[in-house]
Amino acid sequence: MIHEFESHTPVLDTQTFVAEGAQLIGKVVMKEYSSIWFNSVVRGDVNDIEIGRYSNIQDNGVVHGTDDNASIIGDFVTVGHGCIIHGAIIEEHCLLGMNSVILEGSVIGKGSIIAAGSVILKNTNIPPHSLVIGVPGKVIKEIPESWDQIHAQALKYKTLWTERYGLLPNADGERYKGEKII
Ligand SMILES: CC(C)(COP(=O)(O)OP(=O)(O)OC[C@H]1O[C@@H](n2cnc3c(N)ncnc32)[C@H](O)[C@@H]1OP(=O)(O)O)[C@@H](O)C(=O)NCCC(=O)NCCS
Repeated sequence: MIHEFESHTPVLDTQTFVAEGAQLIGKVVMKEYSSIWFNSVVRGDVNDIEIGRYSNIQDNGVVHGTDDNASIIGDFVTVGHGCIIHGAIIEEHCLLGMNSVILEGSVIGKGSIIAAGSVILKNTNIPPHSLVIGVPGKVIKEIPESWDQIHAQALKYKTLWTERYGLLPNADGERYKGEKII
């Protein structure tokens, strides 16, 4: 459901998917082929939220900001089930594992993977192409080779709602063809 807040209404590209039970409030921008899955909350009341092209916020996710920190999610980002992003920048081609928590002021560099259940402490800068695991999350290795799989994962979600759910079967853009994913 789309909610206006203080005269701000979420701005959705025409080719986006908001699943049943998801709540979008206020200053939210959803770019082409992005998707918000069942029962997620994307709450742009205290600050702005942006969801990049082909990015997906999976079920029960929460995206919010703080007074000082917007949440900006780049293109081809997969946000796993139950993940919380709280005033952070997620650069393009990242995968945030299920139930991970990204605290305010953090920047997750492009092409990074945050393991399921990890917690990224506030104001942490994760360098590009990092694999991060744990509470608190620590970089355990560099993973440049995962870029294509993260890209494919985002395409898989776009293809899921457009074609398999049949919501936009003739969508343009890139589609998933069974490539390896994370
Ligand atoms: C981080 C991740 C990518 C690693 O996968 P992998 O390369 O196959 O790694 P392995 O399972 O071989 O584990 C490697 C090590 O990391 C540890 N590890 C893996 N995932 C972990 C996690 N989420 N939390 C803590 N430790 C973890 C393993 O115990 C293992 O430790 P060891 O070397 O001391 O034995 C994967 O475990 C993960 O968390 N994926 C997230 C998937 C997801 O949430 N997708 C979104 C929904 S579609």
